[in-house]
Amino acid sequence: MAKKILKDKSKATKDELFLDTTLRPAVWEDYIGQTNVKKNLQILLTAAKERRHPPEHILFYGPPGLGKTTLAHLVAKETQTQMKVTSGPAIEKIGDLASILTNLSPGDILFIDEIHRLNKTIEEVLYPAMESGSLDIIIGKGPSARTIQLELPPFTLIGATTRIAMISSPLRSRFSGGIFKLEFYTNDEIHKIITRSAKILGIDLEKSAGVEIAKRSRYTPRTANYFLKRCRDFAQVHKKDMSKNSVDEALKLLGIDAVGLSPVDRDILHTIINKFAGGPVGLNTLASAMSEEQATIEEFNEPYLIQLGFLDRTPRGRTVTALGYEHLGLASPKLL
Ligand SMILES: Nc1ncnc2c1ncn2[C@@H]1O[C@H](COP(=O)(O)OP(=O)(O)OP(=O)(O)O)[C@@H](O)[C@H]1O
Ligand SMILES: [Mg+2]
Repeated sequence: MAKKILKDKSKATKDELFLDTTLRPAVWEDYIGQTNVKKNLQILLTAAKERRHPPEHILFYGPPGLGKTTLAHLVAKETQTQMKVTSGPAIEKIGDLASILTNLSPGDILFIDEIHRLNKTIEEVLYPAMESGSLDIIIGKGPSARTIQLELPPFTLIGATTRIAMISSPLRSRFSGGIFKLEFYTNDEIHKIITRSAKILGIDLEKSAGVEIAKRSRYTPRTANYFLKRCRDFAQVHKKDMSKNSVDEALKLLGIDAVGLSPVDRDILHTIINKFAGGPVGLNTLASAMSEEQATIEEFNEPYLIQLGFLDRTPRGRTVTALGYEHLGLASPKLL
């Protein structure tokens, strides 16, 4: 199966992916936070187990690095089944999907990452498969074409997406097990995740240093783990302890400010202020003014800026808020 690798900076880097697999919680107890999602999943999974039937289809959505893939792995572990992993852009032809589905064993989990990038014609083949466990395949062309229907083994589809708005409503409605939104983590939760990761990586981390990394991790576990490792590298090279001071220095060198904004985040705010009078400006226009990808801004940078209250998303475009101006040390025109 040909796999199209598209450049998408909102996705994890190689370094981050390595950390993802090393530090991915393998038991529910290690999966910190997202209490609501976890509770709902436990009910869904227990009920399915009692009925001796695979759980119904589930969709996870939320910004990158919040733990969607991790949850899918935990569900597979809980149901003691195999999980086949693929992604929206990797399924290019109906034949790709047909071969994935017909190769499933009863009770398997099919994980489709970036499901919003699934092509429409393929999506339509997925509907009956999700709904009634059958695969309709058209053989031949023109008047002699006929449809054959294949029975599929019972399976659970788990979809993950960073772009819920791009999931068509027919597809959404077929996730009968539930559609779960992953929320940003609290600093406390992130601190717990960092402490666990430090233990696994054998890092002797001072508490205040862990708290500092947590504060700047954009409420996101992947970022937290990534910063932890970069701070460890810095401390090692400079023969320092993992103290608050050394963490401060390491993050400063990475261009990460006190609230965790990266140079690109700040550039977004500066560009809107300097080139578009503070907004509103359309995402399209903003992305080209910055030579950044629209998807990266929308999926990765924007959610955190909005969460901090530095950016507003209005129907007419993006606007920097008074808080955003203040963070950059500028006077807000709205206050003048
Ligand atoms: N609740 C959690 N507790 C502890 N660690 C977590 C948690 N959620 C995520 N992580 C850590 O963050 C890493 C990234 O999580 P994951 O790969 O599941 O994110 P994702 O939502 O699938 O991201 P993407 O949208 O980029 O695919 C995991 O490997 C794990 O180390
Ligand atoms: Mg993922």
